[in-house]
Amino acid sequence: MAVDVLLGLQWGDEGKGKIVDVLSPEYDLIARFQGGPNAGHTLEFDNQKYVLNTIPSGIFNKKTMNLIGNGVVIDPIILKRELDTLKSNGFDPIALKKLVIARKAHLILPTHQLLDAASESKMGDGKIGSTLKGIGPTYMDKTGRNGLRVGDIFLPDFKEKYTRLVNKHKFILSHYGEIPDFSEKEKTFFEAIEFLRTIPQVDSEHFVNNYLKEGKSVLAEGAQGTLLDVDFGSYPFVTSSNTTTAGACTGLGVAPKNIGNVIGIFKAYATRVGGGPFPTELHDETGENLRKIGHEFGATTGRPRRCGWIDIPALKYAIMLNGVTELVMTKADVLSGFKKINVCTHYQYNGEIIDYMPYDICSVPAKPVLKELDGWNEDLTKITSTDQIPAKLKAYMAYLESELDVPIKYLSVGPDRKQTLQLDNLSI
Ligand code: GDP
Ligand code: IMO
Ligand code: MG
Repeated sequence: MAVDVLLGLQWGDEGKGKIVDVLSPEYDLIARFQGGPNAGHTLEFDNQKYVLNTIPSGIFNKKTMNLIGNGVVIDPIILKRELDTLKSNGFDPIALKKLVIARKAHLILPTHQLLDAASESKMGDGKIGSTLKGIGPTYMDKTGRNGLRVGDIFLPDFKEKYTRLVNKHKFILSHYGEIPDFSEKEKTFFEAIEFLRTIPQVDSEHFVNNYLKEGKSVLAEGAQGTLLDVDFGSYPFVTSSNTTTAGACTGLGVAPKNIGNVIGIFKAYATRVGGGPFPTELHDETGENLRKIGHEFGATTGRPRRCGWIDIPALKYAIMLNGVTELVMTKADVLSGFKKINVCTHYQYNGEIIDYMPYDICSVPAKPVLKELDGWNEDLTKITSTDQIPAKLKAYMAYLESELDVPIKYLSVGPDRKQTLQLDNLSI
């Protein structure tokens, strides 16, 4: 058996949570491999909406086990809140033995969040637009070899290790200005640490590989999107982890040869939240309409998402980096009623027309070269079979498939679990 991977091909919020939930009945294990509570993965079913930040999106499937992998950074306060919310809605993954956590995952401390805020406040125009969940500072401590791991909470000197790290943070914070009082937060943090002790811990590398050995199926769930990858995204306007397929190897302990299908998910248009370049961004009424109709507001921070047309050079780049074998297109329903749909086919860059993602689109703008396609008017939200897909949407998908050279296997036409079409028999 191999580990399939599902990840975002744009700047995040492509609908990963919804599609992992839809696919979870096919898998024995769903494993988050990177990121932290900067993620907001939304699932809808039975007229209920859930937003998951740390917990894998297989949690609502009775038969599926869920793993928070070693590549994830964990805020115990947020994790406890997520689990409390699930419990109050009748889902108790701990009681059901449906959730395990990697002891090598790193802990987000209250002072990591203070550092995130302090760093952003000094950036002025260069602000990343971080979710301020402490993600960057926690990964910095991980790679700086100062971090605290989930497994450390059982060490007799955990408190001393914590204090040592917090003292380092206080030293850095004092250079930014006055250190805000975090005593209340610290108290809540230690309560959440007590709670964390009740979640079974595993070595994700052994846990996942044993699943494979036993012939069980595993889906790795990505967070953020390829264009936010710390190596390949629009640096420095990125997150602090590898959001690409390679991140699933290091974030779970899986060898590259054990990666199977790579499911790349993208919206029928594009969005970005936070700072950084976004070549196809629309600053006009069309962009406003996409935001309104698509409810494009951050699941974690509530911030309005920037909206624009689909970007083919960026998608091709993401497909190459991840080795995508099949595609999922979401939010096609949002485009219903747009008379014309634009697609970015190339960039005008440094006086040239190029069809690839160049090194630097932060200081040298990549201006989109657009191709206009016909839109469709039909409401898609109630369609249940592929023969109900409007011809103009089929043409849009056929065009994208021919450009991207990967088949679109699923089409999502609304936020609900049921609003999903499998396209195996679609002749486009
Ligand atoms: P994720 O971070 O990739 O899991 O995506 P988010 O949950 O942050 O954002 C996707 C948003 O779009 C959520 O509000 C979903 O409920 C919603 N959504 C997902 N698929 C569709 C779709 O096909 N159509 C519409 N209208 N909404 C969708
Ligand atoms: P999901 O998993 C969209 C963005 C932030 C900011 C940048 C760095 O829901 O797709 P960070 O908090 O990581 O320091 O922020 O990355 N960002 C996301 N944008 N979806 C996400 O996650 C994101 N996680 C981080 O807005 O621009
Ligand atoms: Mg999201």
